[in-house]
Amino acid sequence: MGLINDAKVLWHMAVSPIQGDSHQQRLESFYAGQADAYDEFRKRLLHGREDLYASLEMPEGGVWIDLGGGTGSNLECVGDRMAPLKQAYLVDLTPSLVEVARKRVEARGWNNVTVVEGDATAWRPEEGLADVVTFSYSLTMIPDWFKAIDHALSLLKPGGRIGVVDFYIARKYPPDGRVTHGWGTRTFWPAWFVNDNVYLTTEHLPYLEHHFELERLEERRAKVPYLPIVRVPYYLFVGRKR
Ligand SMILES: C[S@@+](CC[C@H](N)C(=O)[O-])C[C@H]1O[C@@H](n2cnc3c(N)ncnc32)[C@H](O)[C@@H]1O
Repeated sequence: MGLINDAKVLWHMAVSPIQGDSHQQRLESFYAGQADAYDEFRKRLLHGREDLYASLEMPEGGVWIDLGGGTGSNLECVGDRMAPLKQAYLVDLTPSLVEVARKRVEARGWNNVTVVEGDATAWRPEEGLADVVTFSYSLTMIPDWFKAIDHALSLLKPGGRIGVVDFYIARKYPPDGRVTHGWGTRTFWPAWFVNDNVYLTTEHLPYLEHHFELERLEERRAKVPYLPIVRVPYYLFVGRKR
């Protein structure tokens, strides 16, 4: 099962061409054939998610919005800690992944979780403002990621928190005390991921730090399935709306 699952995912990641005239069509073209195999493969590729979600407080009566939430595997990371929330929202633009998330929420009986097919750069909840907004490996797949961050800022209450985990590369000359990446890292990883319309950039972190008060930042590296030796850089960021 594991190998068949991996073969299906790898086919869509490495061989099958992505088609479509709009961002949503291209996402669906990429994910539709692998939606049911997504979770098993991504838990070996998308590192740091449990760590990020475990560190975010879910306040009593609060609202949490997971933007680009995919199949909802991150809802599992929060699990029982969602109970005090008034409402959790998972927002994603890919219909086949939204369908998996809806089935998950129904199967778990999470009554305070709503799955929305919507755009992370524009969708708003009826409650108006949120206590927590998260992006887990979604900013690198949102072409206008800066709009998504601006939108997250507008969704948060003053004092609300943003949590982000994603792939990235460091600037050639990062600020003092920050991780540096050599030419090979800065060149290889963006070129590797762009085939799947995943855009690694130097700019998420400076933009996040400019807009939010920094509470936690970790720059790490992780294994990639079927790629020995090399390690992809990723970061965890938690910030507070001023
Ligand atoms: C690598 S997946 C990560 C999914 C999930 N957050 C996780 O950690 O498993 C990236 C997700 O971003 C979503 N996405 C990309 N652009 C989006 C947009 N403009 N609005 C909402 N979701 C978007 C994709 O549909 C996909 O589910």
